[in-house]
Amino acid sequence: MQKTSIETMTGPRILPADDASIAEAASKLSKGGVVAFPTETVYGLGGSSMDPEALDSIYRLKGRRQDNPLIAHVLDIESACSITTGWDDRCTLLAEAWWPGPLTLVLGRASDVPDQASGGRPTLAVRSPEHPVARALLKAFGGPVSAPSANRSGAVSPTCAQHVIDDFSGNPDADGLIVLDGNRSRVGIESTVLDMTLDPPRILRPGVLTAEVLQPLIGQIETTTIREQDASPGTTDKHYSPQTPCMLVEEPELVEHLSGNNQRCVVITSISGRSSLVQPPHELIVMPIDPVGYAVELYEALRRADAERADLILIEIAGENDPNWLAVRDRLMRAASDRIS
Ligand code: TXA
Ligand code: MG
Repeated sequence: MQKTSIETMTGPRILPADDASIAEAASKLSKGGVVAFPTETVYGLGGSSMDPEALDSIYRLKGRRQDNPLIAHVLDIESACSITTGWDDRCTLLAEAWWPGPLTLVLGRASDVPDQASGGRPTLAVRSPEHPVARALLKAFGGPVSAPSANRSGAVSPTCAQHVIDDFSGNPDADGLIVLDGNRSRVGIESTVLDMTLDPPRILRPGVLTAEVLQPLIGQIETTTIREQDASPGTTDKHYSPQTPCMLVEEPELVEHLSGNNQRCVVITSISGRSSLVQPPHELIVMPIDPVGYAVELYEALRRADAERADLILIEIAGENDPNWLAVRDRLMRAASDRIS
């Protein structure tokens, strides 16, 4: 009898998140394995924060630079304090207001946490996710789980289980990878990363929780512009990028490209009435007009646009100078950036 190749059947697979699959995922984590799981922001690719080999596997699987630190996911403040140093009253105020939720705090790294958990840095980022499947997994595993977004390094973050499969199927390192299905991520873009080791604290990566929302709790917070983020490697330069060339445009440029020489464009916009301008062979993706709704659909839209295999993705950017649009603008600027980190 001919042997059927098991290997071809063990690529990444989606499992509905139930007690059995969560127990299976937790058991994998206990054995040093890596699993993909939903969070309310984006899907994560997790391994035990205390296991250097599991952490190495995450970097390998993603193709991520070894010096790009990971976020440790915890159930609560107590667990966060067990792996960090320097937790203070301001952290408690922030966590009591926003945990579980899309807020990551950078603190000192406790001495027994492996170097790989934070790309060799003396600091460690921690966050308590809100998604019930993420919480059930953390509970079943019983320890902190380090997890970057579950995409190939530099690519668009996943907001549903199928996105993870799209990124890792065919990758031999992803054989047997479990992807727990927790439906579409509610927030849609990654957490706000707030560095609490600086005075005043500084936002290293903008998210839906803005400085304006956090400042009333702890006083002044600094924000970082896209070009000065060396403090948080991996937040610089080209990131969240589709393979199709991507440009941010205003109306005159949009019109110029659409009428230009035989190139097919996908237009992503929240400006109404664009359907008369964007005619076949071009494609139109209409986005919500509010920043929260836009964030939810952003990565899905970039993936859909990329799947069109057009010549160019044109994005009309919204919300100039409005802090509520900062995180979306940040992701769009990176998607369109040519600089490779
Ligand atoms: O919403 C999220 O944060 C998602 C979900 C899965 O929790 N995770 C996520 O992880 O976006 P990742 O690895 O794709 O992005 C982590 C960001 C990177 O920009 C990294 O540089 C920054 O957090 N970061 C992590 N640890 C840090 C540290 N010790 N110091 C400075 N920046 C840090
Ligand atoms: Mg990421």
